[in-house]
Amino acid sequence: MKLIIISNRLPIKVIKKNGKMSFTPSEGGLATGLASLKTTMEKHWVGWPGIFTDNDEEKDAITKHLEKFNYHPVFLSKNQIEEYYHKYSNSVIWPLCHYFYMHIKYGISSWKVYQEVNQLFAQMSSLLIEAGDIVWVQDYQLMLLPTMLREKNANISIGYFHHIPFPSYELFRILPERAKILNGLLGADLIGFHTTDYMRHFMSASERVSNVKFIMDETKYKNRMIHVDAFPMGINYDKYSDAPLKAAPKKLSMEWKKKFGGRKIIISVDRLDYSKGITHRLKAFDLFLGEHPEYHEKVTLVMVVVPSRDKVDAYADLKKEINENIGMINGKYSNLNWVPVQYFYRSFSFERLIALYHISDVALVSPLRDGMNLVAKEYVAVKRDTPGVLILSEMAGAAQELRDAIIVNPNDIDNMKDAILKALQMPLEEQLKRMARMQKIISIQTIQKWAADFILELSDIKTENEALTAKLLDDTKKKKLVANYSKSKKRLIVLDYDGTLSPFTSIPEEAIPTAELITLLKNLVKDPKNMVAICSGRDQKTLMNWFGDLPIVLAAEHGAFIREDGEWTNTLIEKKWDKDIVDIIEKMTDKTPGSFLEIKKTALVWHYRNVDPWVAALREQQIISVLREKCSREGLQIMKGNKIVELKAIGCDKGYVVKHLLEQGKYDFMFAIGDDTTDEDMFRGMPKKAYTIKVEEVSNDARFYVESQKEVLPLLKLMAQ
Ligand code: UDP
Ligand code: G6P
Repeated sequence: MKLIIISNRLPIKVIKKNGKMSFTPSEGGLATGLASLKTTMEKHWVGWPGIFTDNDEEKDAITKHLEKFNYHPVFLSKNQIEEYYHKYSNSVIWPLCHYFYMHIKYGISSWKVYQEVNQLFAQMSSLLIEAGDIVWVQDYQLMLLPTMLREKNANISIGYFHHIPFPSYELFRILPERAKILNGLLGADLIGFHTTDYMRHFMSASERVSNVKFIMDETKYKNRMIHVDAFPMGINYDKYSDAPLKAAPKKLSMEWKKKFGGRKIIISVDRLDYSKGITHRLKAFDLFLGEHPEYHEKVTLVMVVVPSRDKVDAYADLKKEINENIGMINGKYSNLNWVPVQYFYRSFSFERLIALYHISDVALVSPLRDGMNLVAKEYVAVKRDTPGVLILSEMAGAAQELRDAIIVNPNDIDNMKDAILKALQMPLEEQLKRMARMQKIISIQTIQKWAADFILELSDIKTENEALTAKLLDDTKKKKLVANYSKSKKRLIVLDYDGTLSPFTSIPEEAIPTAELITLLKNLVKDPKNMVAICSGRDQKTLMNWFGDLPIVLAAEHGAFIREDGEWTNTLIEKKWDKDIVDIIEKMTDKTPGSFLEIKKTALVWHYRNVDPWVAALREQQIISVLREKCSREGLQIMKGNKIVELKAIGCDKGYVVKHLLEQGKYDFMFAIGDDTTDEDMFRGMPKKAYTIKVEEVSNDARFYVESQKEVLPLLKLMAQ
């Protein structure tokens, strides 16, 4: 069993300078975090090496070098880099997920190439993937990959982790490809996010766009369970915490400390990105210096900006803006002894970064949006037992864990300016206490734990899905069912109607039986060995209209009325509905466009199949909580069904119908099929050896399930033949 990580970027990138190639670590939280992950599994990594080349010799040399580490390069053409990487990934999905609507540059050709490159990654990875492997897809550049991989590879576990925020549905919905993107992700068995907020947004978008229904953190989709969970990504704590003791960083720390004299150092380290709030931070520092001349010459902001995506206009513009802002601040305040902002537009080696973190009094991490932000965690780990203050934006995923930071709203410049002062004035004892508490958290929630938690949950889902597959009524089991049917002498066949014999329609009256269904039922009842019953929640009138002419048993309103040999009997007394109850549901209906109330003789049914899932869930809870007491006083039960809430008298359900029918004869073949919660009573009422089949869902009480309603009539046809 191998662990195969697939991300757009490999942890090593290739650089070409003066015609000479060299290899260097990639920047960004995904690469730095995952590269330091150690596992006992054989680990492979598939990704882009960060360079364009059409020279086969160069490609071979790159491949040869990277394969030494089990890194497998995917080479992209110039057009693919432009359309898939710069455009669709970084000028559509990135700004969308970071709530930078105004930076979205949409073009249909980039969507085409995004699909093409995801397909290329699927092909390349599939060369490596074997049955039993764990495949872990990383990040927004490859959102279509989980489904593409599932189509190409049988019996593998697929996980997906989203390293950036997942926006609210209200923003996500603007994406023309929203359904295709979500469908791509739903190919995974486990979908992970840094925080529960991103997880909630993803689930809400999926329910609205892809019509999946989550029960807590899981949903059944195309014959599999899919889990969604929050896994806050951590760092390799020991690596960062031990680093300042190593010779090179130690030497650098001492040198630099001397250079800065007694001055306080504030650091900020980011990739060049508008999501990082770099210009807001500069404005806050400017305001701070303006209001606090006593800190002139006493504090320096060391700003490291790592070049990133500078071919994208918004990034190039930002670079200019940063230059101007820094020029303005330094021009305003610096003198011969002091430059307030020391700016580095380049990447720092690990040792230099460690030294910088270690000597800094304050880390100012103020992104406007950030999936997690590892810089904040690295700073805390490197500080060890020395004082330091972290100022952290509430918009970073890391703020959920690092509550001992000074938390700021990065849009509030005044608030950030005050935070700088607070940090510089914080007593040493408090600094140490806060640091220690944060260190405790991040030393537990490490990158190793992050990956182990994810992989453990993925393997649990595998077990769950295997149990599910065992209950699937596949072709072999169908053949056996038909063979048993053929050799049996007396058969009981109980059929639910809506969602089983007929597909769900948005208007219930439109679910009229087709000629095909009527012929099929006629064929089934033609056989004298068969006793066929339709057991439905529909009322007598509807069932009589549709099936009155057929010599079959009809059970209306879940068995409150049963027709046998053409005669109806009442098993329940008709209800006179309590006006208060009806009024309450009617009020709820008025407040909930798309819902309606069905008043039957023995049941009240509130339907919400056309209502927004969030509103429906709210109203469902409200109806149940308002009516619970009234119902128990009236001797009614209130229950949830498939997009309905139903109130009916206690003492009659589909289980009663089955029990009654079983008493009418000695059957050697028994069959019950249905899709709803009320059909579970029918399954429980049948003997263990009966064929009990749930439609589109696995049920604890049914022995089997079929994946789709579309399979029901063909199955019955096989039997009738
Ligand atoms: N980083 C780096 N070289 C540098 C500066 C930063 O490799 O010169 C690393 C930094 O140590 C951190 C990562 O880049 O691990 C940035 O990750 P973060 O989650 O903070 O932001 P992202 O870039 O992923 O948006
Ligand atoms: C963020 C993203 C990563 C990406 C990294 C660097 O961390 O979540 O997927 O690799 O930024 O960006 P780049 O475009 O240089 O790969």
